[in-house]
Amino acid sequence: MTTESKDLVLTARVSPFNAPSLTTNEGNGLKRSPPSRAMDEVVASAPGKVVLFGEHAVVYGHPAIAASIAQRTTVTLRPAEQPGVHMGRTPLDAAQHPHLATMMGHLWDAERGPGLGISVASDVPRGAGLGSSAALAVACATAFRAARGRHVDAATGAWHEGHASDGTEPDLFRGESVDAPKTLEGERVHGEAAVSAEEASLLGHVAEALSQDGRASPMDTLASAYGGLVLLSNRVEDEETWVMRRTMPVEQHERSWELHHLGDLRLNEGLSLVVGHTGINAPTTNMVAGVAERRSTDKGIDEAMNAIGALVHRGLKALMAGDAEAVGRAMTENHLLLRRIGVSHPKLETLVSAALPTSLGAKLTGAGGGGCMIALTRDAKATSEAIELAGGRTWITPLGTQGARLEACPEGGLLRPD
Ligand code: PMV
Repeated sequence: MTTESKDLVLTARVSPFNAPSLTTNEGNGLKRSPPSRAMDEVVASAPGKVVLFGEHAVVYGHPAIAASIAQRTTVTLRPAEQPGVHMGRTPLDAAQHPHLATMMGHLWDAERGPGLGISVASDVPRGAGLGSSAALAVACATAFRAARGRHVDAATGAWHEGHASDGTEPDLFRGESVDAPKTLEGERVHGEAAVSAEEASLLGHVAEALSQDGRASPMDTLASAYGGLVLLSNRVEDEETWVMRRTMPVEQHERSWELHHLGDLRLNEGLSLVVGHTGINAPTTNMVAGVAERRSTDKGIDEAMNAIGALVHRGLKALMAGDAEAVGRAMTENHLLLRRIGVSHPKLETLVSAALPTSLGAKLTGAGGGGCMIALTRDAKATSEAIELAGGRTWITPLGTQGARLEACPEGGLLRPD
């Protein structure tokens, strides 16, 4: 499905499949990376995200669309003389670094591996709703899988080892099961051939959920692993772009999402997204709880949610048709509805108003109450200056960037052969 258009071109990619027996290491959602730049280092990076349409309403079963951004987190694994795992000189503290600890629990085999030094570098601002923890988890999953390698069927490339999604994976949420090959037949591949967007997205979501009391939507990790534009819904919206179902145990219930990878969006030259940070940190859990409370007394909130749901479909249509003006208009309308449900903030209003005269549309992104806003613009410089003058900190990004990427890996990875 490719749509030629004036301003935006959305190129959907047929996504990897999920059953282990079908999952191949070809077309796994990750692009080729440059050759290793260090002999013994494994380096992987993954992007942050913004929500284009549908935040909050997605909590009530409506769809939402997110896009990866230019800002990335990079994880480096270095073999060390010293046994154990260290960040700088300090042994890794699982309580302080739950995402790293979860990923090691699932992917690393300390018995067969060397001591490790881990370092993390990121230009995704933290606590701003731009998916910084998801980018860390996804980069980490990619680095550890490349370092570990995996057994695959020599003829078909299907995995004999790995975490593929069948929609449930209850065990992933219980304990730290180290991945074990189902059979030692087949060949062991490392680096680029071993990594997978599907697995990084899945394990990234598990790491997010385990570090946030089981409350995490898979939106951030999906956008970070696959890159480009992604869509979440409580139903399969489109067979062609559907990649997996995620089901997560939440207290006595199960929560399910159907995840779609819409593909890469190429913007015409001069069209970009400006992200403006209010500098205010508003925890997502509080914002979601506030909406739930207001909803019990204000019937208008459900109407606004329904309107947001309809708007997501309109926004999607505009994206597919490559109509940047219509995308911008839908973004601004989405902002007005988010304001109606009570998740804006005076500073977000100031930044959105400052951006509108030079942009096609602007809205808050993510949980609101502070955090960031985004503006789609043909004049990134003017829009960014206007937002900064109004007191925001800005970043300029294309709309949808490459997902998780392996930057370097020594041949043979870092684990000793079985
Ligand atoms: O805080 P963020 O930017 O990751 O966005 C939260 C999005 C919500 O819809 C408000 C919550 C959710 O879990 O989807």
